Amino acid sequence: MKKLNSEQLRNLYLDFYRSKAHAAIESASLIPENDPTVLFTTAGMHPLVPYLLGEKHPAGKRLTDVQVCVRTGDIESVGDESHCTFFEMLGSWSLGDYFKHEAIEWSYELLLNRLEFDKDRFAVTVFAGDGECCRDEESAKRWEELGIPKDRIFYCGRKHNWWGPAGMTGPCGPDTEMFIDTGKPKCCEDCSPACDCGKYMEIGNDVFMQYFKNSDGKLEPLQNKNVDQGMGLERMLCILNGYKSVYETDLFSFAICKLEELSGGKYGEDEAATKAMRIISDHTRTATFLLGDRNAISPSNVDQGYVLRRLIRRAMRYCRSLGIDDGALVELARLYVEKYKDAYPYIKENEERIVSELIAEKDKFAKTIEQGLKEFDKVLSHLPQGMSVFPGKTAFRLYDTFGFPIEMTKELAEEKGYTLDEEGYKKAFADHQALSKAGAEQKFKGGLADNGVQTARLHSATHLLNAALKKVLNDDTVNQRGSNITAERLRFDFNFPRPLTAEEIAEVEKLVNEEIAKDVPVVLEEMSVEQAKAAGAIGVFASKYGEVVKVYTIGFSKEMCGGPHAARTGELGKFRIVKEQSSSAGVRRIKAVLE
Ligand code: ALA
Repeated sequence: MKKLNSEQLRNLYLDFYRSKAHAAIESASLIPENDPTVLFTTAGMHPLVPYLLGEKHPAGKRLTDVQVCVRTGDIESVGDESHCTFFEMLGSWSLGDYFKHEAIEWSYELLLNRLEFDKDRFAVTVFAGDGECCRDEESAKRWEELGIPKDRIFYCGRKHNWWGPAGMTGPCGPDTEMFIDTGKPKCCEDCSPACDCGKYMEIGNDVFMQYFKNSDGKLEPLQNKNVDQGMGLERMLCILNGYKSVYETDLFSFAICKLEELSGGKYGEDEAATKAMRIISDHTRTATFLLGDRNAISPSNVDQGYVLRRLIRRAMRYCRSLGIDDGALVELARLYVEKYKDAYPYIKENEERIVSELIAEKDKFAKTIEQGLKEFDKVLSHLPQGMSVFPGKTAFRLYDTFGFPIEMTKELAEEKGYTLDEEGYKKAFADHQALSKAGAEQKFKGGLADNGVQTARLHSATHLLNAALKKVLNDDTVNQRGSNITAERLRFDFNFPRPLTAEEIAEVEKLVNEEIAKDVPVVLEEMSVEQAKAAGAIGVFASKYGEVVKVYTIGFSKEMCGGPHAARTGELGKFRIVKEQSSSAGVRRIKAVLE
């Protein structure tokens, strides 16, 4: 195995796929631009969905990149050796170009020849087939041709050899995964890479994205046969260098050193301190990237902002558990900026924003802790005489509302002569998790659904804004480049070469408000993509030929879109543009509200 650092591995990977005629493209934002069904970009393929569905990519049919990703599904697992909420994904794609033959050959060449994994320890899995999709003999045959013995090719079911979609709907397909045998003894007679006994470690994945999962959960064949090849950077670094944990790689080691220096503790010695150092390092890195992103977000109480707030506060709580000031986050963020500034120059450009947001959140958190302490005293004064147990439910409320670590509540309670009902706390916690899981599923189901009525109204206003911009700027080439809606405001990016004048802004507002004043109903029709285009509907034409799409007519706007929307324009109130600014070269950004 080749010992490489992060920079060398990124370069080796990109150079390899460049040598196979792939164009290297830039990492997209961590905040998905056109997919309301997920909060963050979770895989390299995610920003490429329109192209996997058939839209032409300006850089061609063979692409490669290193994509920043955030997955927060198992935040609570962070602290072990391998879970991270942020990671970089090395990826390469065929957009309807080559398929299994070349993809598998190149994965082989990359892993065994360039990264020098031991061929005798190499194993793969392929899709075993089921009622919906056939057994992948083609991939198995290709691996055999390349010299992988039959007993190292394992057939597995959908649970293991199927990938995607990234959100609720989208491209997906069977995959072939590559593993390295660690040499540990077999866990059982049928031990295979499908077990999680740790004998096999995954080192790569080729997904054959030839299906589209629609909103009914059905698979439809795609016009294009695509390949989505991917591997996690951190994980690969860890395996190549023989580290036990991703925190030993050069992407984390300096952060861990800093925490050792500040706390006087030693990573790897004390279990609780080790866990705390991992959590602080991981969460601060993720926060740095979210605060420094091109579509940067701020801590808040909804959606992405809420996840960011949780990450920051959780990291701060763990600082306290290490006995260090939570200002350590700022020091770490600066170190991450230095570490990543060559690979992601925008992180350096946004350094001051990252730092000031972290400081602001630290101050807010300090106040919350104060309020929480008052609340704690109030609870104590209301407990019935003679009661010596501090209620678990209340401990959970202190945790959930005021960010009180349970250890802190326990300590405080004990100081006053109470014992904490830990079982009650755990139960309240589990009940809450079940609830928030239901909430998250709701979000995935309905896209914007759980943001409620106001979001739907802002969404309708976005359509009116889009149409009004075309009219006022008298330019049909003005198109949506991104949209992000929260319950408070809309944000709309579009291509245009210069700032809008005050007159143009006033005219756009006027046109939108006129449509609102007419109080016309919002009309939804379903038709084929071709009919929609013929009817003059605008929108992101990512849909496949013949697919039925929803078209919303809202006053002077006609746009393909998944909804949801207000019922009538009259509901929208008064539309006001609060900001018009540059978003990136040739792209303007408008923020607007409904009052
Ligand atoms: N999209 C594939 C993955 O995440 C490559 O494993």
